[in-house]
Amino acid sequence: MGSQSEWKEVMNRAPEKEPDRQRYFMARCREIIEHRKQELGRELTFNDQTFGCQMNFKDSEKLNGILEEIGYVRTDSEKADFVYYNTCTVRENANIRVYGRLGTLKTYKKANPEMIIAMCGCMMQEPEEVEKVRNTFRFVDVVFGTHNIYKLAELLYRALSGKSRIFDVWDKAEEIIEDLPSDRKISFKAGVNIMFGCNNFCSYCIVPYVRGRERSRKPEDILEEVRKLAAEGVKEIMFLGQNVNSYGKTLKDPVTFADLLRMAEQVEGIERIRFMTSHPKDLSDELIEVMAASKKICRHLHLPVQSGSDRILKMMNRHYTKEQYLGLVEKLRKAVPDLSLTTDIIVGFPGETEEDIEETIDVVRKARYDSAFTFIYSRRSGTPAAKIEDNTPDRVIHDRFDRVLAVVNEVAKEQNAAMQGKTGLVLAEGIDEKDPSMLTGRLSNNNVVHFKADPSLIGQIVPVVLEEARGFYYIGRLEDA
Ligand code: 5AD
Ligand code: SF4
Repeated sequence: MGSQSEWKEVMNRAPEKEPDRQRYFMARCREIIEHRKQELGRELTFNDQTFGCQMNFKDSEKLNGILEEIGYVRTDSEKADFVYYNTCTVRENANIRVYGRLGTLKTYKKANPEMIIAMCGCMMQEPEEVEKVRNTFRFVDVVFGTHNIYKLAELLYRALSGKSRIFDVWDKAEEIIEDLPSDRKISFKAGVNIMFGCNNFCSYCIVPYVRGRERSRKPEDILEEVRKLAAEGVKEIMFLGQNVNSYGKTLKDPVTFADLLRMAEQVEGIERIRFMTSHPKDLSDELIEVMAASKKICRHLHLPVQSGSDRILKMMNRHYTKEQYLGLVEKLRKAVPDLSLTTDIIVGFPGETEEDIEETIDVVRKARYDSAFTFIYSRRSGTPAAKIEDNTPDRVIHDRFDRVLAVVNEVAKEQNAAMQGKTGLVLAEGIDEKDPSMLTGRLSNNNVVHFKADPSLIGQIVPVVLEEARGFYYIGRLEDA
């Protein structure tokens, strides 16, 4: 595609400044794609395979926005002309899943010479994984990391116009680039990044190594995005960050997370505000006050406890004790009585004993979680915990995991039963997959409700009588229906 000198010319003419540089490469890619479409007499398609947390899904929206701008059309099939895997590495099984699936792409690529395969995300921030892709998965064309997703158009331009494989992974982020396209699948709900990275270095966690140091977006940039989303019809926003409670601390003009929420609340059209994830050590009284007084901030808090044992919490570098955590829960419950609390728990941290696990079970009973994600500890190389010797048999860890899970389920069921018979406001999000005559939606406290209603209500907030609590969800009826 084009001669070497043409390519050089295009590269030389590229603006230095972002996002102008990426806009320029989007235009160059669009020319190439347009030309290929003419030659092939068909559309060129893309497919995204996203693993992991909300951050990754948000990153994929940005990548998809760029791909659509370039002229690719989205497809659900992996037999596409551009396929990317946005990977997760928080636990080892996430890596295994990625490599398990990647193999099938090789046969698709043999059948379609147009196909470009890219890998990005957290796994690609680990040098040994990049080497594995370089040597074992030779059909992967483009590899980039978490810090340069905004550069997709430039990388793609090089892939479309050259023949060599492209590896571009940065070990840290530069500035935050604003004003690039983004593509949402849902019209009435949107995630908004407020910060990137994490400075906490919990001893088991790889995130600070693959997502880099904490950086907050400026409040004016965030609010502008929220206003734009409201104008597009978005009713619910979710502020995203690894540790939203320390938002704004590193800005030139520091702002608190509570300040940001107060400002976002003023945006007309936005009816619900959620956020994720909170670290207990940074959750301020000011935030509790703002939540209590707010009509828009949802009655849900995801507050990862990880363990109930002071000894393990210390080894995890979490900076709080069981008593402090439960004190915080009490304060929250008093200020926001209808709050639903969820958490993350790790079972099997190196050296965890029977006594430690009893403390964790005790926290579940006392904090009364509405639900909890329970994980088996996964050793991540490079983290401090990976160096701790442990000879607890897997059988014992699995047994403890099952016991924690049983209590989580028992408590969640009791919690959810408490709202049975009451009426709640539900954002209708879509048609129920199991029963197409029903809609599925969420209460302010994030609980799921299935109820019979017309699909025209999707995207609206409607009153629903919660007739029957069924463990983790409700069967409801539209009020006055
Ligand atoms: N092993 C198991 N679970 C982990 N998490 C993070 N790192 C690990 C690990 N090495 C869990 C924590 C965190 C959630 C996103 O993933 O509970 O809150
Ligand atoms: Fe990982 Fe801890 Fe940061 Fe969460 S707060 S991303 S668990 S290091």
